Amino acid sequence: MDKDQIRKVKRSFSRSFIGGNDLIQTFYDIFLQSHPSIAPLFEETDFAQQKLLLRQGINCFIMFSEGVYAGGFCLDEITISHNKKHYNIHPNAYVYWKESLLKALEKSDPQFDQELYHLWIDVIDTGIAYISKGY
Ligand code: HEM
Repeated sequence: MDKDQIRKVKRSFSRSFIGGNDLIQTFYDIFLQSHPSIAPLFEETDFAQQKLLLRQGINCFIMFSEGVYAGGFCLDEITISHNKKHYNIHPNAYVYWKESLLKALEKSDPQFDQELYHLWIDVIDTGIAYISKGY
């Protein structure tokens, strides 16, 4: 993705946390309901901590699409924790994550539009493809 596209995604991400919007809370409200197998995985989760970690994780996705070296490094950590040997998240489950994040962005970013929808899909698909390879 080029610099202008990444800048648009970063601005959208920032807007999603201001003026009473909380992208990550909205995301978890949607994601946990998106498939019956998902909520049970988070029964023991400390959500105050998890929300910070996911915000960081989405930053990793953006950096990775930007071609920043650290983006790959932090995606490696998520790849390992979610692989078959650890949380065992099958690559098929990522579609729920993707759809939930897109819905949460639409609710949280007041300037969300078709262009941003496609830019975010690019960022999300690139990150998910990388993580899925390490399953
Ligand atoms: C590509 C999208 C995803 C990203 C960026 C992501 C990111 C993260 C991050 C940053 C953490 C906390 C750090 C860690 O434990 O590694 C985490 C934990 C977790 N994720 Fe994901 N995740 C994704 C998709 C999923 C999906 C699809 C599921 C389940 C269907 C899932 C289930 C979990 C679970 C069960 C935990 C542990 C929660 C706990 O500590 O109690 N993740 N994820």
